[in-house]
Amino acid sequence: MDTQAILSTATDIAYEAGKLIKENFGKVHQVTFKGAVDPVTETDTAVETLVRSRIQTLYPKHHILAEEEGGDPWDTPGALWIIDPLDGTNNFAHNFPHVGVSIALLIDSKPEVGVIYDPLRDELFTALRGHGSQCNGHPIAVSSADDLAGALLGTGFPYSRLTTADNNTQRLDHFLRRSQGIRRAGAAVLDLAYVACARLDGFWELDLKPWDVAAGILLVQEAGGTVTDFDGAQLPISGKQIVASNQLIHEAMLRVIREGDQAPRPATP
Ligand code: IPD
Ligand code: CA
Ligand code: CA
Repeated sequence: MDTQAILSTATDIAYEAGKLIKENFGKVHQVTFKGAVDPVTETDTAVETLVRSRIQTLYPKHHILAEEEGGDPWDTPGALWIIDPLDGTNNFAHNFPHVGVSIALLIDSKPEVGVIYDPLRDELFTALRGHGSQCNGHPIAVSSADDLAGALLGTGFPYSRLTTADNNTQRLDHFLRRSQGIRRAGAAVLDLAYVACARLDGFWELDLKPWDVAAGILLVQEAGGTVTDFDGAQLPISGKQIVASNQLIHEAMLRVIREGDQAPRPATP
C-alpha cells in the first residue's frame, strides 16, 4: 500500500474538513447531547459525512470507524480509517477557538498515517510511520525537558466525569504539585500534536476513544516520544488510558499515576 500517497489524500481531506469547521466557527449552532455533557453540533455531523464520503469514494474496500456514526472496531484487521471529525466540540459550541480534525489510517490495528489539522491556526500535523512527523511540512520533535518539575503537561476530564468514581481530579492534584503547570485546552487530538511538537512535555487522560488518539499516537511516536497506558504497557488505541510524553519524563509521569501522593515531589523553597 502506498502510504505516502494516502498521507497526501488524507491531508487534502483534512484541509477540506477544516474549511467547513472554520466557516461554521462562531455561528449559531444546534447543540444536542449524546450524554449529560457530551455535545454534538451540526458541524460534527456535516464534517463526518464529508470525510466518510471522500474515503468511501477513494477506498471503497477500506473499513471506517468515526465518532458520530461509529463503524468497525479499532482492531479490525486490514485497512481501517479512524476519524474524529471535530475534536473540541465543547470548545466549538462555546466559540472557544481550539479545535481540530483527526484522520488516521491503521493497517492491522497499527497506525500508519496520521493527520491532525487545526483550521483556526492553519496548522497541519502529519505523521507517516518510519518517516517522522511534521507541522506544515517542517519536521517536528518532542521536547528535551528531562525533569517533571519543569514540565508543562496537558490533560482532560472524561464526559463520564459527573458520575464516574475516577474523574481524573486526584491525578490532576498530584501532577499540579509535581510539574511546571497543567493545561486543559479541551481537544485531545491537539494535546497529542502539541506533545509531538514540544509545546507540551507530556499528556495523560482516561476514557478517551480511538478517534481521539489514533493519529496523535503516531505523531508523538514519530516525533521521538513515547505513548503507553497507565502501566507503561501496550499501545492504547482504545483510548481508555493514555500517557504520552517526550520519553524523558515518561517514567516520572507513570510513577505519579502509580504512586499518587507517595511519588517524589520537587523541593519547595
Ligand atoms: C473530547 C476532547 C476533550 C477530551 C474529551 C473528548 P470531542 O472530544 O478531546 O479534550 O477531554 O474526553 O471526548 O467530544 O470534543 O470530540
Ligand atoms: Ca474527540
Ligand atoms: Ca469529536
